[in-house]
Amino acid sequence: MLKYNIIPKPNHYRTLEGTYTVSSGTQVLCAEEFITAGNYLTTYLKTRPAENEGAIKFKKVGGMEPEAYSLKVSPEGIFVEASDARGAFYGAVTLKTILMQATKKEGKAVVNGLFIQDAPQYGYRGVQMDESRHFFGVDIVKRVLDNMAMLKLNTFHWHLSDDQGYRIESKVFPLLNTVASTRKYAGLQGNGLKHRGGEYTHYYKQDEIREIVAYAKKLHINVIPEIDIPGHTMAILAAYPELSCSGEPVEVVCENGIFDGILCAGSEEVYTFLDKFFAELCPLFDSRYFHIGGDEAVKGHRLWEKCPKCSAVMQQQGLKNAKELQGYFMSRVNEILKKYGKTCIAWNDCINDSFDSSIICQYWISHNLAAVRKQAYQRDLILSPDRYFYFDVKYAHIPLKKVYKFNEVKAGFGKPGQRIRGLECEHWAEWLDTESALQFSMFPRLFAFSEVAWTQLENRRYRDFYKRLDWYKTYLNKTGVNYSRVEKGMLSTKQAIIYHLGADGKEYKKSEQLKAKESSF
Ligand code: ACM
Ligand code: ZN
Repeated sequence: MLKYNIIPKPNHYRTLEGTYTVSSGTQVLCAEEFITAGNYLTTYLKTRPAENEGAIKFKKVGGMEPEAYSLKVSPEGIFVEASDARGAFYGAVTLKTILMQATKKEGKAVVNGLFIQDAPQYGYRGVQMDESRHFFGVDIVKRVLDNMAMLKLNTFHWHLSDDQGYRIESKVFPLLNTVASTRKYAGLQGNGLKHRGGEYTHYYKQDEIREIVAYAKKLHINVIPEIDIPGHTMAILAAYPELSCSGEPVEVVCENGIFDGILCAGSEEVYTFLDKFFAELCPLFDSRYFHIGGDEAVKGHRLWEKCPKCSAVMQQQGLKNAKELQGYFMSRVNEILKKYGKTCIAWNDCINDSFDSSIICQYWISHNLAAVRKQAYQRDLILSPDRYFYFDVKYAHIPLKKVYKFNEVKAGFGKPGQRIRGLECEHWAEWLDTESALQFSMFPRLFAFSEVAWTQLENRRYRDFYKRLDWYKTYLNKTGVNYSRVEKGMLSTKQAIIYHLGADGKEYKKSEQLKAKESSF
């Protein structure tokens, strides 16, 4: 057993004889290529290398898997080995967690001997944030990225456009920032809530986007933007109504729900708009990937069926129905994004065999699970099933243990030949309107998620995980992060709404035992 609590659990480890003592006088020596790993540790140690008191050495070696590292602590020193910068960084993350927990003597950390050899189960370990429904801003996003790095999560999926608001500065289409980024009320109506707050205008300046992408890069986190099209576009259409089938004016939405606003798939003007728009946005993000949404467009399909331009394209292309027209639309968007060096991701409910096999499928809804399982042989898949990884849903419905027990084999995705790239958890923000509410829905579930994404199934035990979680809860308390104290679904399920409201304490009745436990933190 390792003495230290590490989430996600390292895949292989053993203890070694002896100890090694680390202080702020300990040098961190690393190859130039591993500088992000070195900086991560020296920032924590507040290193004064001039007073050389031994060293932590990062060494590049050949032949290790992507993101893999080994970490050895022995009386001779501390040694991290990796073949790539990401592996070295995860070695630094594990070591920092250990140093935080190590016995302290006269301001120095005495670390027990150990050897860890570790690599992730999945190459894609994602966290999504929805900033259309509520905007959080640079500082909150950075804090999310910091906690992601601590848990070795490597992809930030950034949902930046939806019916309730569009959130990136555009110099080419300025109405996106005056009209599409503004709605009448801050708080959305629905699920028992009324409109709240006044007018709400928010978007990221292009420099802020660059700042966040650069910040994430230092933490080895890839930022994937999402512009959800052709549906979920009421905000874009409020600014540019000529992009819809009817051209009639619409407003940015202040309710939750699914709306029929949709870009006209039969209009060349739409494709010209999208080309210019993506030409402006793509260079802001250094990721190879771009998420183009595609979900929940069925209400809009009814408008397509009545539109002369859409009908003409269907006829020309020999398309049987609006679903096939969506395939045509997504393929044209994919061609545009390819020009700008991007590979597209789309939600599973729009994908069919006609889609280019380079388009990655993100599985969220299981109404046609057999089709999704089949898609996994044809294209790469990201798994974010709404019954496990939608963290805006109440703990009553998705308790901590349920997240931990996700098993891709049982979900029908463990077959040879299926191309599962990894997992992602979602934070839709209809009801998450503050950092505290976001944190409440995220924690402690993100800990379980990180272990499911990183640690091999045979190395995962819920009870063991739960014990290790205790130290991380103390960490959350110390760093002022809100989290749910009820993890086991002890909540009232009588309410009709399935989303919790995010306010800590409101959604559950605390037992005396629980209150006592909380006050002891
Ligand atoms: C989704 O939850 N509509 C992807
Ligand atoms: Zn149309």
